[in-house]
Amino acid sequence: MEKKIGTTTLSTVVSDITTLRVDAVVNAANSSLMGGGGVDGAIHRAGGPSILQECKKIVSEIGRLPAGEAVITTAGNMPSKHVIHTVGPVWHGGKKDEPAILRNAYTNSLKQASRHGLKTVAFPSISTGVYGYPVSRAASVAVSAVVDFVKAHPDAFVEITFCGFDDTTEREYASALQSSV
Ligand code: APR
Repeated sequence: MEKKIGTTTLSTVVSDITTLRVDAVVNAANSSLMGGGGVDGAIHRAGGPSILQECKKIVSEIGRLPAGEAVITTAGNMPSKHVIHTVGPVWHGGKKDEPAILRNAYTNSLKQASRHGLKTVAFPSISTGVYGYPVSRAASVAVSAVVDFVKAHPDAFVEITFCGFDDTTEREYASALQSSV
């Protein structure tokens, strides 16, 4: 599914995000930045040890990465040029600021990308795996955050992709994108 906002294309795809040839893939990390399972594990496996080395350096400077914040490293052996590591909220029923933290994760990832002049970015479905965020709710927060950022920064990006690992997830982002204004 694709939608143009000004000159920026927002799209959805079903793929392993580590194979995408974009300027930056976003990683759904945890605050330790030391890797994990899910997409975090896939990115570290595909990218190789250089990503973890850079993450260790970042952690030595900032301690832990708070939920909703984002940092950037190279992408090691992956076809993308950078990895933007962000931490989504753990779902606790929706009453612990989860939507705001999830929105910040997308917004701060895009801030990092635009700060580095990156034009194409791919997001996984942040927080909807281990962190338990319901996909349909996460998709509407994610799409709204990205649409708002693109409207406020019309020349920042060429394409932003929502990368689902399965059809069900991709369909949620496609329908959220479809119904976004
Ligand atoms: N490419 C794209 N998407 C993927 C891939 C992949 N290779 N692998 C998994 N996913 C999808 C999952 O299917 C899910 O839809 O990423 C989405 C996010 O799931 P998680 O990776 O579990 O991330 P999250 O829910 O944000 O939990 C983060 O999990 O792996 C640990 O270290 C990580 O502690 C952190 C937590």
